[in-house]
Amino acid sequence: MIDIGVSDRVFVLTGAGVSAESGLPTFRGAGGLWRGYRVEDVASPVAWARDPLMVWQFYSMRRKAHRGKQPNPAHLALAKLEKALGERLFLCTQNVDKLHEQAGSRRVVHMHGRLFQSRCDRCDRPPFDDENCYEDHVPRCDCGGQIRPHICWFGEMPYELERIARELERCTVFMAVGTSGVVYPAAAFVAQARASGKQRVRTYYVGPEEPANRALFNECFLGKAGESLPRLFHWSQLSAISV
Ligand code: OAD
Repeated sequence: MIDIGVSDRVFVLTGAGVSAESGLPTFRGAGGLWRGYRVEDVASPVAWARDPLMVWQFYSMRRKAHRGKQPNPAHLALAKLEKALGERLFLCTQNVDKLHEQAGSRRVVHMHGRLFQSRCDRCDRPPFDDENCYEDHVPRCDCGGQIRPHICWFGEMPYELERIARELERCTVFMAVGTSGVVYPAAAFVAQARASGKQRVRTYYVGPEEPANRALFNECFLGKAGESLPRLFHWSQLSAISV
């Protein structure tokens, strides 16, 4: 169990594993999304410059795969945690899906972007909601630029890193869920939280196997997130300190 007191600030980092039980494939491991693709062909600025239609076909396939998918008990538990802790919970996800939002989480930071948003690759027009699939053409902006997925590709800078750094500095509990701990900078967040904490930060991992950065976690709760996460918190205690 994870004890959360009135003065705790909780940082939760989620990865593809939190959505696995909803039927969205993880990137690595058996059946992993990258198994069928070379990352550099579909998720990099080089790929976009070389073959933007192929990039859109890949992200259109992922938009279609999301249809009908529902949040699982892990997403629901994190939404419930936000209800109890309010702004003392910071939920940062590497996932581009919208299952946290569908579960009721209101303040999700998508450091790798959002599957259902697009933006212009040339002008400053802000990212906009876009549910379309583009399989035979690359959409154009009014400025003449090409519309691209609002996704952080390999070689690009993740979003909201300054805000994330501030939250890592002040959290007292750090929890990672369903992430293999190999993709940076997210894999270094646990070290950042430990380094910056004035008081001792408690660090936890939840997932069926130990992550690559296991040594930095105080405790590893081995199991599927949808099964173990809802059982990790003292909900009656949390409702007593609820905001
Ligand atoms: P990975 O595919 O690398 O890792 C998924 C993790 O989820 C593994 O450690 C699994 O053990 C775990 N897992 C599987 N089923 C689970 C379950 N039911 N409950 C909990 N955990 C489970 O995915 P990420 O670590 O999220 O980046 O990958 C990080 C980034 O690499 C992604 O955001 C993506 C990718 O390339 C970009 O596209 C920029």
